[in-house]
Amino acid sequence: METHIKEQDNRVVDVKNLFISFRTFKGYTKVLNGVNLHVRRKEKIAIVGETGCGKTTTVYAIAQILAKQARVDGGEIFFKGRDSLRMNEKELKQLRASGISVIFQDPIASLNPVFTIGDQMAEVIRYSGIEGARDPRVQRERTVAALRETSLPDPERLMENYPFQLSGGMRQRICIAMSLATPRDLVIADEPTTNLDVTIQDQVLKILRQRVEEKQSALILITHSLGVAREVADRIYVMYAGNMVETAGAEELFRECLHPYSRGLMSCIPKLSGGGIASGIPGHLPSYYAPPPGCRFEPRCPHAMPRCKQAMPPMYEAAPGHCVACYLYERGTSA
Ligand SMILES: Nc1ncnc2c1ncn2[C@@H]1O[C@H](COP(=O)(O)OP(=O)(O)OP(=O)(O)O)[C@@H](O)[C@H]1O
Ligand SMILES: [Mg+2]
Repeated sequence: METHIKEQDNRVVDVKNLFISFRTFKGYTKVLNGVNLHVRRKEKIAIVGETGCGKTTTVYAIAQILAKQARVDGGEIFFKGRDSLRMNEKELKQLRASGISVIFQDPIASLNPVFTIGDQMAEVIRYSGIEGARDPRVQRERTVAALRETSLPDPERLMENYPFQLSGGMRQRICIAMSLATPRDLVIADEPTTNLDVTIQDQVLKILRQRVEEKQSALILITHSLGVAREVADRIYVMYAGNMVETAGAEELFRECLHPYSRGLMSCIPKLSGGGIASGIPGHLPSYYAPPPGCRFEPRCPHAMPRCKQAMPPMYEAAPGHCVACYLYERGTSA
């Protein structure tokens, strides 16, 4: 068995220079373009970026649940110091059953319509391998406790229900309860509050945050909303067209975002030129069939320079812990 012990400063996940493409009927789309990302134990990070930029692809790669059409063209994904791209079937099974849990965007699709909530939760507990996992009494106790902790009313009755008998908000909270019913090193939540109304959204995020903190696990939250990212995450990654273009502590990013794309995303006025993006970012994501060879944001960037067309800028550390992939910040040390 290959072991690559590379657990730096408590990193639960460490993604290094990850390239992923998808096979389509027209050829390969080069989606992930050298993604770097890490999350430490007890840390909550968020990935923000517009639709299609590769957020789900990144976390599916981490959880090892990519679609069959996906091809890893390069890079490494360390999970607790071990390269998960080199794991054997047994290790991968363990990773999915007890290492990482994923809360999917669509709670209807992630619950099985023909089994009760109690049966589905028992199944998750059974496969987790925790002590007593096969004992129906343990499964029941854990299920009731998880439902209760997620502020769901009357857990005993809820267990007898089928998914269709519950509201969208309840189903989403059940998915969270399910993902937190057994200890995990990493929880991935992919847009967990889409389609929920604002009150329930707040409640769901609060539960998620608290539960991850209590269990000392780590969280990767995907969201379209910078407000949500700021509320939940310690650190934020801004993603654009298959690259992480900026990362910083949540407060730092809101105090001063640097990448022209992040600035557009925040609809803040760029300080470099004094003019620029008032709201939104004109243009579209580039085609993944033939992406620009340099910075993928260059065609839309108000500050583009000739060199941006030639090569992808590396990550520069503009301030401690604040990294940005843009030549405008070349003065900093390369991160
Ligand atoms: N199974 C697949 N087969 C082919 N292309 C795919 C597949 N999954 C994702 N892609 C493509 O990869 C790109 C990134 O998709 P991804 O779902 O990772 O984006 P996202 O940032 O999660 O978007 P959203 O915010 O809409 O969820 C898109 O162009 C998408 O069409
Ligand atoms: Mg997605």
